[in-house]
Order: sequence, then structure tokens, then C-alpha cells
Amino acid sequence: MMKNNPLNPPLLRGNFSGTIHVGLIGFGTVGTGMATVLMEQEKLIARRLGANLVLTQIADVDIKRSRGINIKKISLTTNPYEIILNPKIDIIVELIGGIEPACKFILDAISHGKHIVTANKALLATHGEKIFKAAEEAGVEILFEGAVGGGIPIIRVMKEGLSADKITAIFGIVNGTSNYILTKMSEEGSGFSKVLKEAQSLGYAEADPTLDVGGGDSAHKLAILALLAFGTPIPVKDIFTEGIDKVAPMDIAFAEAFGYKMKLLAIAKQVKGKLEARVHPTMIPKDEILAKVNGVFNAVCVVGKSVGETLFYGRGAGSIPTGSAVVSDLISIARNILNQQGYGKPHRVPVPPTGIISSARLPLPIKPMAEIESRYYLRFMVEDRPGVLSAISGVLGRHHISIASVIQQGRKEAGAVPLVMMTHKAREKDIQMALEKINQSDSVYKPTVLIRVEGKDIDQFLPFKGRLGGDGI
Ligand code: HSE
Repeated sequence: MMKNNPLNPPLLRGNFSGTIHVGLIGFGTVGTGMATVLMEQEKLIARRLGANLVLTQIADVDIKRSRGINIKKISLTTNPYEIILNPKIDIIVELIGGIEPACKFILDAISHGKHIVTANKALLATHGEKIFKAAEEAGVEILFEGAVGGGIPIIRVMKEGLSADKITAIFGIVNGTSNYILTKMSEEGSGFSKVLKEAQSLGYAEADPTLDVGGGDSAHKLAILALLAFGTPIPVKDIFTEGIDKVAPMDIAFAEAFGYKMKLLAIAKQVKGKLEARVHPTMIPKDEILAKVNGVFNAVCVVGKSVGETLFYGRGAGSIPTGSAVVSDLISIARNILNQQGYGKPHRVPVPPTGIISSARLPLPIKPMAEIESRYYLRFMVEDRPGVLSAISGVLGRHHISIASVIQQGRKEAGAVPLVMMTHKAREKDIQMALEKINQSDSVYKPTVLIRVEGKDIDQFLPFKGRLGGDGI
């Protein structure tokens, strides 16, 4: 009997050479992490795969700078087309980020029959449809586990782990920078700008943090998750996006007084046949698990019709965790290449890039923000005199908004005092119209702060409650 040597697998048949060759375009933070994981886990990967997975070639604008890893056996180039046109390369990893030239490199690689791995969320959120179509037509695979949630294998969960389930809602903390800042603001009572500066000096926040703290990065990730979950491509511009840059320590403190934590949530829900997709600071009850996700960590709660509530937690960024996600994609593609080469069953049907065969999608109409329903936290900065509260509640009442609780702290003869309210469920359009009216009042000194509240309403996404019996979770 042949000895079961993982580097020389006995099951291989056909023309298989025993090595899958990988080319990397973009040797930055994640590229270095990916190369590190691939080299450190070389033997483990060979044991899992039954073949060798080798980083053969790297292209980057800077191939001189040391990345602190041994790349002596790897061919380096500044020209990505040396990789794209290299017949030896089976899979190309794109890790340069941004839209162009990443998009062109990927499309050209696909047209040369290369399989693709990318972690480029901005590109997939904006040009994913074009790229996935090109890959499907060319019969190559494109995987992107590193694009959302860093080291959390959330893409595979959506495409494969929950493939039997109808997903009804996603609630994600998918931006580590924002979560770190909100956690620090909550712990220290500090303002946004101070905490952002500290985060930058510690290397937790980018020099240009706009995409992270402005919510854009979360919106890109939500567009990808919603496409996988609901088969609905959502243009990023149609995702209502508000960042954390306007969040004041006072609102975090009031949230805590009401029993809530403030998180930047990416939310997608299927409500009455329509899809809601939005990113904004959100108050969630402090006993919800998501409220306990702190610091740079990410977590995605996915609710399925059969499975109920599931939660995936981990490091949403970083060279090695994201590098590990990229390598997991390489292993998946390598397995399929081996299948095609006669290892195992030759006619395995690959998982479609977005988990649903593109011609079989049933996209949902997207609900305009004005139509969503939520509970709201409102902070009015008002003159402290008799009649102000009743005037404000009168306007809210006339717009069908019911107040759940009120806090007014402090008493000032002159100047503004905060008057804080939690509403019952109301329509966004009604809230906006009421606030427009209220903000015109002479007794209201500053534009009213509005923060949406999510929480126990999650129950409505658990349609099996009581159906599966027992504890009814
Ligand atoms: N900049 C992102 C974050 C990580 O802060 O979470 C990469 O997706």
C-alpha cells in the first residue's frame, strides 16, 4: 500500500502535477499576511488539500521594501501582466484595493482563464455584477472571503453554511475602526475627534479615516452581504449611510441611561417583500450579544427562517486574520481545480460566485429610507420653560409619533438643556417631517439629534418562534 504522504497524495489521478500555482498582485498589509499564512501553514494546507499550494509570483509597485518574510523562492515583478499572462499561474489574488486598476486586472485575468481571489469590497460592491458575470461566463471561480469581516468566514456561511435557509435579516458590526472609536467613547466619555486621533496614533485608524468613520466601508460590505443573502444587487448609493462622526458623548451617555449601547450597524432586512438596507449609528439593548462586541472586533448576526438567529464574531481586519481568509479561498479553488483534473468526482458543480445562480435570482425591490419603520432616540436642545415639552410632543403626536419615555436633566435659567425622548415604532418620513417643524421653533436652539433604535423587534424575523416547540429560543 502506498504511504499516505500529504505532499504526494495517493488519490490523485490524471495529469495532475501536484502543485497549484498562485500569483499575487498587491504586496501590502493583507498580501503580506496571506503570504505569511501560506508559508507558515504550508504542510497543514497540503494535508488538507492533498496538493501543494505555492505562491509563485508577486507583482507590486514596490518590490524592494522588506516585508519581514522570506520570499527568496518567489519571482517578483512590478508588471502585473507578467502574472496575468503566465500560463503556469492557476489562481490570481488581487489585493491592491480600490476600483482601478484592480477592476481591469481582474477582468483581464478572468479573460485569460485565471481563477480569482480578492478582498476588494469597494470593487465588488460597485462592479461586482460585471465581474461575477465575466467569471461565470469564463467558467472560472471568484472568491472573496477577505472582503467582509476580515478573518470571520461570513461569506462562506452565507453561500454554503446557510444555503438551505431563507435569510430574513442581517445586523452587522463590520467596521472595526468605528467600533473601536465608539467603544472608547463609551468607556472614557471622550469626544469623537480625540478618540479618532488616539486611534490613528495607535495605527487602528487610517490617516484618511473617511470611508471607515463615514460608514462607506460598512455600506460596501453590506452591499456584498445583501447580494449573497437576498440575491439583490443594491447600488451603494441606494444604501442610506450615516457615519459615527456626529455621535456625541452625551448621546452615548443618554443611550446608557435608557439601557442601550451605541453601535454602527449595517442592517439589511426583508420586510413585507421589500429590502431595507442601511448603515447608521444605532442604539441596541445592552443585553443583546451585539452590544457586547467591543473594540476592533466585528460581528454579523444573520437571521434565517429555519435556523433562527446566528452570530459570527472575530477580527474584522488585520494582516494575518484577513490573510487567513484569503488563503481559505485559495484552498477552495485549488480543490475545484483538482476535481477538474480528475481528483475525486469530475463533475462537481461549483458554488456560484454569489451563492445563487445569477439567472435564478429573484431580486427584491429596495425600500426607500422614508418608508422604513424604526424606534427613535431624539435629543432636542431646548429652552427650559413651561410649554416647550408639550409643544414638541404635540408636533410629534400630529405626525403619528408616540413617545415611549422622556428624560430631561438639569435646569438652566438661560441656554439650552437636553430634552431626550425614545419613541415607539414610527415611520422615518413622519419623524423627518416632525423634526423639520420642531427645528424651526425659537425654543429649539440646535438641530435635533436623531438616532435609530433596534432590538427586540428582531423577534419578527424569527418566524418559527413556537413552531419548533420547546424553549422558543
Ligand atoms: N478598515 C476596515 C475596518 C477594515 O476598520 O474595519 C478593512 O475592511
